[in-house]
Amino acid sequence: MLLVVVALFTLLATATRAQPVVGESCAPAACGGLTIKYPFWLRGRQPAYCGHPTFAVTCDDDPTGATATPPSLNGSYLRVLAIHYGNSSVVAFHANLVDSSACATTRFNMSSILALSLLAVSRANSELLFSANCSRTPPTGSLPVNCTGFSGGGEWFLSLNRMYDPGGPKRALDTMGCLYSVVPVLPWSELRSAGDYAGLVRRGFLLEWTAVPGDCAACNASGGECRYDAGAMAFGCFCPGGRLQPATCGE
Ligand SMILES: *[C@@H]1O[C@H](CO)[C@@H](O)[C@H](O)[C@H]1NC(C)=O
Ligand SMILES: *[C@@H]1O[C@H](CO)[C@@H](O)[C@H](O)[C@H]1NC(C)=O
Ligand SMILES: *[C@@H]1O[C@H](CO)[C@@H](O)[C@H](O)[C@H]1NC(C)=O
Ligand SMILES: *[C@@H]1O[C@H](CO)[C@@H](O)[C@H](O)[C@H]1NC(C)=O
Ligand SMILES: *[C@@H]1O[C@H](CO)[C@@H](O)[C@H](O)[C@H]1NC(C)=O
Ligand SMILES: *[C@@H]1O[C@H](CO)[C@@H](O)[C@H](O)[C@H]1NC(C)=O
Repeated sequence: MLLVVVALFTLLATATRAQPVVGESCAPAACGGLTIKYPFWLRGRQPAYCGHPTFAVTCDDDPTGATATPPSLNGSYLRVLAIHYGNSSVVAFHANLVDSSACATTRFNMSSILALSLLAVSRANSELLFSANCSRTPPTGSLPVNCTGFSGGGEWFLSLNRMYDPGGPKRALDTMGCLYSVVPVLPWSELRSAGDYAGLVRRGFLLEWTAVPGDCAACNASGGECRYDAGAMAFGCFCPGGRLQPATCGE
């Protein structure tokens, strides 16, 4: 009986153990004009241990080398336009927002699509604010958007705030009884007419990543390659000679 239990446990442990994190190289990969390296990895072209599961990038490069669509992040609607490794930030746009009318945005919540992710919408962004049915006048500088014929339709107002703060408009607008929706856009965006909406959304917004395991810069500086063992949820530094170290190749 005990033997059976022990055998079962061994089986379970083997089944849940991660793929080995050594083998093929994790040299930086290219997709369109982007360099993909830790914590990002290129699904389909690199082993999964080259990065963290949240940062799987799928490349739609066509064989001629031209990118039809910017790469997607973990198969989601987020399309990556740039990765700034120096300050841990990404510029991405949401494919659904780009492909639909501004009026569809009035039912959109960017924070909820990123829940439980290691990526957060950067507070450095500006924001587009849609509001409707305020008991008092809409925010100053608002441009009218006619959404008659859309679900949740009627007259909406569009304005631009310099600071992205998902909790900010909520406090103010709730007290005015407004319906509202917020879309982050790049810092220093300009809104001159409601027609600027599509272009602003297409340029994307900043996301920042935090709490990614391991100090990749330190591992790399010691001559190693950064790896991630998703099963053990642990960072690894793959060193010359084939050793896997917990932090750097120094010790
Ligand atoms: C990546 O996408 C898959 C499938 O869409 C999802 O189940 C998973 O939670 C995502 N992983 C992360 C870490 O965001
Ligand atoms: C990170 O650096 C890039 C390039 O210098 C800059 O464009 C971007 O705004 C910065 N990201 C954040 C979150 O400040
Ligand atoms: C958007 O979603 C976030 C996270 O789920 C939630 O905290 C927030 O209240 C929502 N905002 C609106 C305007 O519904
Ligand atoms: C809004 O659009 C609807 C349908 O396209 C149209 O009938 C209506 O006159 C428009 N309203 C304004 C104020 O322009
Ligand atoms: C605003 O309120 C009116 C009356 O309650 C309603 O008919 C209309 O649909 C509301 N507008 C929006 C955008 O929901
Ligand atoms: C590690 O360093 C090499 C050479 O210095 C560089 O080409 C590579 O991009 C770095 N990798 C990462 C993940 O930073």
